[in-house]
Amino acid sequence: MSLLRKAWRYLWIYGPRRTLFKIAGRSRRKIPFVSARRSTRRDIALIGCGQFGVATIGYFLIRRFGRCLEQVYDTDMSKAQSASSILGARRVANSVEDILRDPQTDLIYIASNHASHADYAVAALDAGKRVYIEKPVAVTLDQLARLNRRVEKKPDRVSVGYNRPFSGAIKTLRKTFRENPSGPLSLSCFVSGHVIGADHWYRIPEEGTRICGNAGHWIDLFVHLLSWRDLPSIFRIQMMSADLGEPDDNFALSIATDQGDIFSLMLTARSEPFEGINETINFQQDSIICKIDDFRQMTIWDGPRVKKWRFWPKDVGHRVGIEQPFSDTPRRKWLEVQTSTLLMLRITEMVRKGEAEAEFSRSQALDELRSWETLQ
Ligand SMILES: NC(=O)c1ccc[n+]([C@@H]2O[C@H](COP(=O)([O-])OP(=O)(O)OC[C@H]3O[C@@H](n4cnc5c(N)ncnc54)[C@H](O)[C@@H]3O)[C@@H](O)[C@H]2O)c1
Repeated sequence: MSLLRKAWRYLWIYGPRRTLFKIAGRSRRKIPFVSARRSTRRDIALIGCGQFGVATIGYFLIRRFGRCLEQVYDTDMSKAQSASSILGARRVANSVEDILRDPQTDLIYIASNHASHADYAVAALDAGKRVYIEKPVAVTLDQLARLNRRVEKKPDRVSVGYNRPFSGAIKTLRKTFRENPSGPLSLSCFVSGHVIGADHWYRIPEEGTRICGNAGHWIDLFVHLLSWRDLPSIFRIQMMSADLGEPDDNFALSIATDQGDIFSLMLTARSEPFEGINETINFQQDSIICKIDDFRQMTIWDGPRVKKWRFWPKDVGHRVGIEQPFSDTPRRKWLEVQTSTLLMLRITEMVRKGEAEAEFSRSQALDELRSWETLQ
């Protein structure tokens, strides 16, 4: 009964086709007709065939191109096989090397565990492929350094899965500023996330904890909004967790910058949100005040003017994010992703060490990254 009610609710939020893909991803069952359209392109591979790989990346690729996957790979063969059947992939690869050696494959989507993203991306770039890397792009500084060295040489071959900047709401907000915004900004994000047990792979320290797994999205959104003006040099960070035994869950993160900006993120997971992750975002800069309700509705006040928008289906930016490798929309700028990843890694370190306060200097972090690069 609860599953039926959930499916009904998802129909209203995401529309029928995407709901079917979400059901297929969970049940690992092929749904007749939904992925029947043939494609002339068969140059794409998918590594990591879990829920996101099937129900989101798979959905948006099929929506655009039909059955375009040349091959899929997952360390869990049953996941790879069910994904191949649901998405109509041509074959299941036995290893990542199979994919890297395949001349037919030009573009690789990486949606596996967090600790594997950077190394798969490095190997793919070294093999001459293009890559789409799901968030986070790295969970350690040395991984980021290895990746950074490649991306700086071949920036046009890399797309990144931090998608909130591609949402209808954030793109509309950007257009509301007739010129580049100036002056300090305030951003507050209240996020009801999924309940993730202490034994879930997101929580494993080597996977970067929930800071890399989840919080990175809103840290990246903050950095993206800052980049509309220019990026600050110094970020003062405070972290407060409800339970010191589980510092990466139910926490409040605050950041102030040397340009007078202020950011807060509360990530709470006291109970499972029935409709999936739920985000309330409040923003102010110049004369603009903006309220985004779960990327489904938005209100913007600009002085005396007020305007409201609805986004159906719910739009957190997945479609445009996933289509980056094919679209004219500019890809996420590496400088932004590099900065938000460095900031996220510093906050991950705070959580690991139980630090409540820290200062992050962008130039020092970059120097450290360069020194890791010279060790590679
Ligand atoms: N951008 C977004 O909004 C968003 C939302 C959800 C998830 N994600 C990201 O998508 C990725 C996958 O998350 P998910 O929710 O599908 O998790 P999941 O657990 O459902 O899937 C992960 C899959 O990766 C496979 N895997 C694990 N280690 C592997 C390895 N070394 N090589 C190949 N495959 C491996 C697992 O067997 C599993 O099938 C993560 O990076 C996650 O952060 C992004």
